Amino acid sequence: MATMKVFVFTLIWCLLHVGIEGRVVNLLQSFDGSRISYGFSNSFNRIFDTSKYGILQLNNGLAQTPQMGWNSWNFFACNINETVIKETADALISTGLADLGYVYVNIDDCWSAAKRDSEGQLVPDPKTFPSGIKALADYIHGKGLKLGIYSDAGQFTCQVRPGSIYHEKDDAALFASWGVDYLKYDNCFNLGIKPQDRYPPMRDALNATGRTIFYSLCEWGVDDPALWAGKVGNSWRTTDDINDSWVSMTTIADINDEWASYAGPGGWNDPDMLEVGNGGMNYQEYRSHFSIWALMKAPLLVGCDIRNMTAETFEIISNKEVIAVNQDPLGVQGRKVYVSGTDDCLQVWAGPLSGHRLAVVLWNRCSKAATITAGWGPLGLESGTSVSIRDLWQHKEVVGDAVASYGARVGAHDCQMYIFTPQTVARSVN
Ligand SMILES: *[C@@H]1O[C@H](CO)[C@@H](O)[C@H](O)[C@H]1NC(C)=O
Ligand SMILES: *[C@@H]1O[C@H](CO)[C@@H](O)[C@H](O)[C@H]1NC(C)=O
Ligand SMILES: *[C@@H]1O[C@H](CO)[C@@H](O)[C@H](O)[C@H]1NC(C)=O
Ligand SMILES: *[C@@H]1O[C@H](CO)[C@@H](O)[C@H](O)[C@H]1NC(C)=O
Repeated sequence: MATMKVFVFTLIWCLLHVGIEGRVVNLLQSFDGSRISYGFSNSFNRIFDTSKYGILQLNNGLAQTPQMGWNSWNFFACNINETVIKETADALISTGLADLGYVYVNIDDCWSAAKRDSEGQLVPDPKTFPSGIKALADYIHGKGLKLGIYSDAGQFTCQVRPGSIYHEKDDAALFASWGVDYLKYDNCFNLGIKPQDRYPPMRDALNATGRTIFYSLCEWGVDDPALWAGKVGNSWRTTDDINDSWVSMTTIADINDEWASYAGPGGWNDPDMLEVGNGGMNYQEYRSHFSIWALMKAPLLVGCDIRNMTAETFEIISNKEVIAVNQDPLGVQGRKVYVSGTDDCLQVWAGPLSGHRLAVVLWNRCSKAATITAGWGPLGLESGTSVSIRDLWQHKEVVGDAVASYGARVGAHDCQMYIFTPQTVARSVN
């Protein structure tokens, strides 16, 4: 009898555990009706594994799709002030980027004075933010946008302003009183304390304010945050800081790819902010950067001076079809599914989308133009499946359906990005 009880208890515990920790419905089930074949093969669930994505997320209702907006760091670093933040908000509106979803205006490091005030509160730098953050938040909110701020899970920020460790409650309450909508929380001067101990207190402090605030962990991937941060933040950095170079961007893409199965609505892997438009990469490289970030369900936080963008920069970051891949409600991170060529530089990246579709990127990381072919096997499609293809950079359908593979010529460091829609086939009822 006792053994039976233990057995039943264990069974129930296991079932609950699976329900909580894994995706309840695996992808293939949702992709494969019994009456209709959507053309996906048995290896589909293995290729696009989502089993590590917990449904027990932060539960503040945010990040159902990756966050979109702008952040001051990549272009301005410490050279910020309330004028440039306001002008950026104005530019998000006047360029139409806000209407495409770029709504967070995020101030990075250097907004605060070097010391807390006599009551121990953070103070905006009186020289650069003389009107204070509340006034800035009101301005930003008046435009229908949201304001993000920055602090650090340590004694100081990376630029040696006061950090928030042991001040979580005060600082969260202050941010909420200003009307802040987003907190990026950095990892400098962390006193050698584990991030698993330093990041949850701010989560709880933000929650206790009663204001819904996006919580972005910037832990640099040091302690593999994908393994634990789903219950702590809405996104977590998986890597070191990006810099405006091809080597940095490609290195970071590969590291972020390793954690694909842990991302989903409520909590995303963060391979850091966009460098598109900052001048260190060419048009093809920036287009690849944007395409792969969109496919990986990375936060799309523009990092250039959007008051002064080139037409090429605007064309890249305003591509509605690529943004739609990033914001797709299915919320499954795309990943690298096939490589060939010298040093694996010819690559196929892909990810499932709602509506039984696939996003596919052919990415040429070699130094010469080449043809890259995506076979149906690596994409998790049954051979013989007829697929219609839309080109997201040409904004047109590719003529003629493909039935076994699809290949295209891709320039050096460039990519092509598509949506593949397999033709559904009714199964015979018997
Ligand atoms: C504000 O910052 C911008 C960008 O760094 C700079 O060009 C401008 O001169 C600054 N304005 C003031 C008043 O400091
Ligand atoms: C605080 O956390 C609870 C429990 O997860 C959640 O239901 C609630 O929406 C959160 N509130 C805010 C303001 O984030
Ligand atoms: C940019 O990142 C790459 C790759 O991580 C690194 O090798 C390089 O030193 C960095 N460059 C700068 C200027 O920090
Ligand atoms: C605008 O950007 C161009 C480069 O694209 C640069 O040469 C110019 O100085 C910038 N203007 C301002 C006002 O920042």
